Amino acid sequence: MRVLGLETSCDETGVAVYDSESGLLGHALYSQVAMHREFGGVVPELASRDHVRRLLPLIRDVLAQSRSQPADLNGIAYTAGPGLIGALLVGVATGRALGFAWGIPAVPVHHMEAHLLAPLLEGDPPPFPFLALLVSGGHTQLVRVAGVGEYELLGESLDDAVGEAFDKTANLLGLGYPGGAALSILAAGGRPGRFQFPRPMTDRPGLDFSFSGLKTFALNTIREHGADAQARADIAHAFVEAVVETLAIKCRRAMQETGLNRLVAAGGVSANPQLRQRLQRLTKDMGGRVYFPRAEFCTDNGAMIALAGCLHLQAGQSAPLAFSAYPRWALAGRPAG
Ligand code: KG4
Ligand code: ZN
Repeated sequence: MRVLGLETSCDETGVAVYDSESGLLGHALYSQVAMHREFGGVVPELASRDHVRRLLPLIRDVLAQSRSQPADLNGIAYTAGPGLIGALLVGVATGRALGFAWGIPAVPVHHMEAHLLAPLLEGDPPPFPFLALLVSGGHTQLVRVAGVGEYELLGESLDDAVGEAFDKTANLLGLGYPGGAALSILAAGGRPGRFQFPRPMTDRPGLDFSFSGLKTFALNTIREHGADAQARADIAHAFVEAVVETLAIKCRRAMQETGLNRLVAAGGVSANPQLRQRLQRLTKDMGGRVYFPRAEFCTDNGAMIALAGCLHLQAGQSAPLAFSAYPRWALAGRPAG
């Protein structure tokens, strides 16, 4: 089965062709980051308009790259939520319309589900069941994954997502937008032990998170010490250390509570080298294993959408001709809105 995947939920236009026999045949990504940078964040209307400009040319490129004609495709998958409504609608309407024109099924995909399935694109995929840590710009969640479509939310952030905390702290350190990757590079040159950030919500039971306090802690520390370059690197180091340790503590707890020793980490922040290393160590200590997507499929991309759509189509699911986008959509629930 061969599926075209479309991702337009935020500021990246992603397109891919995935084949259940041969794997990923082609993919391309257009990032709008440069366009949004001067505003310090994503401007939704600019994002929607840019997806309109980029999507069809990217589809043409990826079909050519993967030596596929529309007649070779068995379905089209598109991100239907959660995300920015205008941006989502571009992919939803395009996917549904092309499916109709080409006479093939179209299937809506949950963006976070696609993130958690992304390690299945790799050569040595995690067998079900496993635990998933989803860390992106909009979500921080721990999920028990029994199989495709079988998700139980175990915990999530009560305020900022991890990626959001990275981006806000990076901004306070003058690193531009989105600053997650730049912050982790700065942190690598920081000295351990100079600053001690809190590990929020680790001293009470449960698997929920809270990251907005870390950002305030960062703000106060930067105000007091942030004048010199080495201190800024030390602050970045302490921040990343606190985030990574907090995530590791909750992952350990979730592994103990569920008895699962396979962990998937996915979403933009799972590209972070410090987090990857820490989770490697944790799962090894616990006699288990951690699985990541390759770095380029940690952040938003079309490949994970094509893969998730293919798995749903194989399970017999597709969408009716009436279509919708869902800016808010719980992973384990039915779409709302
Ligand atoms: O999954 P993603 O591409 O988009 C959403 O679905 O939100 O995640 C984007 C987030 C941003 O907050 C970005 O700063 C963060 O992932 N990010 C990183 C790294 N690379 C991307 N955070 C920390 N370290 C990185 N290397
Ligand atoms: Zn994402």
